[in-house]
Amino acid sequence: MRNVTVDNVTDVVVEAIGASAPIPARQKEIMTALVRHLHGFCKDVNLTHGEFMQACDFLARAGAVCTDKRQEFILLGDILGVEVLVDMISNPTPNGETTGTVLGPFFRENAPVLPHGASIVQKHFDNEETVFMEGYVKDASGKPIAGAMIDVWEDAPNGLYENHDPDQPDYNLRGRFETDENGYYAFRAIRPVPYPIPSDWTAGEMISFMGHHTMRPGHIHVLVNKDGYRPLISQLYDGASDYLDNDSVFAVKENLIGSFQKGSEEHGTDLYVQFDFTLADQSLAMAAE
Ligand code: BEZ
Ligand code: FE
Repeated sequence: MRNVTVDNVTDVVVEAIGASAPIPARQKEIMTALVRHLHGFCKDVNLTHGEFMQACDFLARAGAVCTDKRQEFILLGDILGVEVLVDMISNPTPNGETTGTVLGPFFRENAPVLPHGASIVQKHFDNEETVFMEGYVKDASGKPIAGAMIDVWEDAPNGLYENHDPDQPDYNLRGRFETDENGYYAFRAIRPVPYPIPSDWTAGEMISFMGHHTMRPGHIHVLVNKDGYRPLISQLYDGASDYLDNDSVFAVKENLIGSFQKGSEEHGTDLYVQFDFTLADQSLAMAAE
């Protein structure tokens, strides 16, 4: 096509996909939809060349701040609700399995494996409220899952995760707990508080360009792994927290909201929360790949 116009350019580009070299069907599907949506976007907003150049500069700067500790594009995807959307598409829960949600940038591998009921709190804060959390891990039929490994991590009362706060000990507020033969787990933690997502660099630029705020509601992250089951990446939200209805990364689900109640003398904590996790069969993960 020699005479490319506003009206035919999208079809011209789509026809070029796979025209000079065979490509897998999925690749063709993705590239075709990408071109159609991208062209549609440019037409919808009458994108100017200056704005296109600004976008290119923004993406270049976002790439330049990525390190092995910071993945700026995931953060940008979170701010746009893309990570949570992709998570919902890839992790269906047709049989009442626990809903997943975003992993976020603060996960660290190899947290200490701790015994039942142990505390993940290594450093105490004046304004902390301690919490005893317990529950069961089961499959969709209600059968307990023994030997599941639950990774948990949360922010401190100052709103910082340990790896972003030089004043917290290594792996503070992180731990791994293995379920017993009844699928039971338990640990001690502190009430998670709302905190702002990292908003220096381009993530901050994007969120203020959108006119949105940076806060997340208080939550405890969980990652549950057991052979034969789809890994569950999720978060338990404090039902009394601010920002449940206006999370900056859109990751809250009604069925992930827990009720933090007054703790008992038996547990010796200020608060108590019970939450069960239902894992999906591994075959559901395969279907989504
Ligand atoms: C988090 O929950 O840790 C998180 C999720 C998405 C973006 C930033 C933080
Ligand atoms: Fe978080």
